[in-house]
Amino acid sequence: MKNGFLAAGVIAAVAFASGSAFAEGDAAAGEKVSKKCIACHTFDEGGANKVGPNLFGVYEGPAAHKEDYKYSDSYTEMKEKGLTWTAENLAGYLKDPKGFLVENSGDAKAKTKMTFKLTKDDDVENIIAYLATLK
Ligand code: HEC
Repeated sequence: MKNGFLAAGVIAAVAFASGSAFAEGDAAAGEKVSKKCIACHTFDEGGANKVGPNLFGVYEGPAAHKEDYKYSDSYTEMKEKGLTWTAENLAGYLKDPKGFLVENSGDAKAKTKMTFKLTKDDDVENIIAYLATLK
């Protein structure tokens, strides 16, 4: 009896922790992480597209969110399928852009010009918290 009660408590705690993972990202730390992206992206409102698109307003926006940037075809396909850059999608994308595209564009040969992977979970959570402030 006692053990059963304990186990239920542990499951509830785990569910709570994973549900709030992105809410706990630190936007100020994320702004520092964004230094890893600025070779290819700007983050300010109305900022220029560089190698990659400007990222202001990307959070919760549609895939291929900038009208004036020439995306690879797979991004346009994701947009047509209605994919939006939720925290969950951004996390999957930033850890493995090509893998995410293959899974979500429906194109097994999907290509991306973004060759960069963000490997640390902390960095991913924090940059998403930072992106969420840019709107
Ligand atoms: C080496 C250059 C490069 C780096 C570094 C880079 N990106 Fe990108 N990123 C790109 C390019 C290029 C695209 C567009 C890809 C395409 O059209 O094939 C892109 C696309 C994106 C998109 C999708 C935008 C949209 O409108 O759908 C997001 C989100 C993104 N990058 C976030 C980031 C973040 C956050 C970082 C830093 C952690 C980062 N990128 C680092 C080149 C880069």
